[in-house]
Amino acid sequence: MELLEAPGSLREQLKRKFARRNALIGVAGVGYVGLPLAVEKAKVGFDVIGYDRNSVRVDQVNQGLNYIRDVDDAELTRLVESGKLQATTDFSTLSRCDAIVICVPTPLTANLDPDISYIKAVGEQIAAQLRPGQLICLESTTYPGTTEEVLLPLLQRSGLKVGEDFFLCFSPERVDPGNARYTTKNTNKVVGGVTAACRDVGSCFYQQTILEVLEVSSPKVAEMCKVFENTFRSVNIALVNEMALLCDRLGISIWEVLDAAATKPFGIMRFDPGPGVGGHCIPLDPFYLSWKAREYDFHTRFIELAGEINIGMPYFVREKVARALNARGRSINGANILVLGVAYKKDIEDWRESPAVKVMELLLKDGAKIDYHDPYVPKFVERDVQWHSIPLSRECLERADLVAILTDHSNVDYEKVVQYAKVVIDTRNATRNVRNRGSKVVLL
Ligand SMILES: NC(=O)c1ccc[n+]([C@@H]2O[C@H](COP(=O)([O-])OP(=O)(O)OC[C@H]3O[C@@H](n4cnc5c(N)ncnc54)[C@H](O)[C@@H]3O)[C@@H](O)[C@H]2O)c1
Repeated sequence: MELLEAPGSLREQLKRKFARRNALIGVAGVGYVGLPLAVEKAKVGFDVIGYDRNSVRVDQVNQGLNYIRDVDDAELTRLVESGKLQATTDFSTLSRCDAIVICVPTPLTANLDPDISYIKAVGEQIAAQLRPGQLICLESTTYPGTTEEVLLPLLQRSGLKVGEDFFLCFSPERVDPGNARYTTKNTNKVVGGVTAACRDVGSCFYQQTILEVLEVSSPKVAEMCKVFENTFRSVNIALVNEMALLCDRLGISIWEVLDAAATKPFGIMRFDPGPGVGGHCIPLDPFYLSWKAREYDFHTRFIELAGEINIGMPYFVREKVARALNARGRSINGANILVLGVAYKKDIEDWRESPAVKVMELLLKDGAKIDYHDPYVPKFVERDVQWHSIPLSRECLERADLVAILTDHSNVDYEKVVQYAKVVIDTRNATRNVRNRGSKVVLL
């Protein structure tokens, strides 16, 4: 009703609602991306509804219980108690929203092809209830073309016209879990709209919560921008991992090389080697691009090569473990190995696609007895095996034939680790500040 009575086009009305913070915002998928986004929107005064098909997450939000480290516990509780933020498993609630942001997963199939079924499922739900005056924004990482080739046709089934009746944008999420310096608010946001009006409305929407919003000419550019950013990381990590493999053969410390190279004030950017790549982005997103490239008879060689090197790193860690045990007259078979850190990177609780889990699987296959300690991951299940973190005690360090540091969490006492362990494989140079680490520590 309000839409019909208010003066001006739907575009201007929607922008006014955003500027006055009296628009109702919906977030589809309240995970690592969606929940921080919902909180940011609610913090500046919007009423926000989080929609998720996972009822456990929905219940947690409604009880003000936080499950994403980047979200402040007290903030979430305050927003829920004040009624600014609520969650639901009922999509019809979301259809009341003025803006709907899609933050659902974009995994790969077993054959490394994009699985955009989650985007399609939400798109179909939105299309069935789309009404004039709504902004739909896709934030899930995906291949260039998804917004216009997949989402737009679904939404057009409603009979409504894009750019006039409803507005459609792609704006990639760049959140870096665990990064205290760059958060949702102060990380620049790129927005591409299907039409100029879509871009204008989308840009206005993000300007309410993000300090810098950059408009690009199309959703495709914004989609490509995101997969390029992740490909850049994947390729550079692979380069430094390959150098680590070579340095191992040459008997040179890759870490000393990197410290020296980092002193050059221009033309170099530091990336560190490690046991592989993990998480929901770097191991997956570049393959979205290589899949799309094939449609254009284009072979993305850097992506394939980087994938090959990064996927091989857990096997190299297994080799380092075997060599370290061998030097002490032991084999992996029957050895007690204590793994430190299973999250895919430091100071976060996300273990999805973690290379640490792959290393554990390889060592287990070779007959090792494995315990792990991770202050952020109390338990996890992989291939039907239930794992529980054990406390990091002097006894468990002394009991282990080898300690493998696979994630360099900041709150682990590495002095103690080196003091009581027999031998330490340090894949992250986490022990760099330990005094007298001597020959006990074997770096990657
Ligand atoms: N995690 C990151 O660091 C990160 C960073 C940038 C971009 N991304 C991208 O953002 C997207 C989301 O990633 P995430 O890490 O937040 O995933 P996530 O698994 O943490 O959260 C996704 C949520 O969507 C829900 N969901 C799935 N299908 C749904 C449906 N049909 N309707 C409603 N809810 C549904 C799931 O239950 C889950 O709670 C992915 O495309 C990812 O690549 C992630």
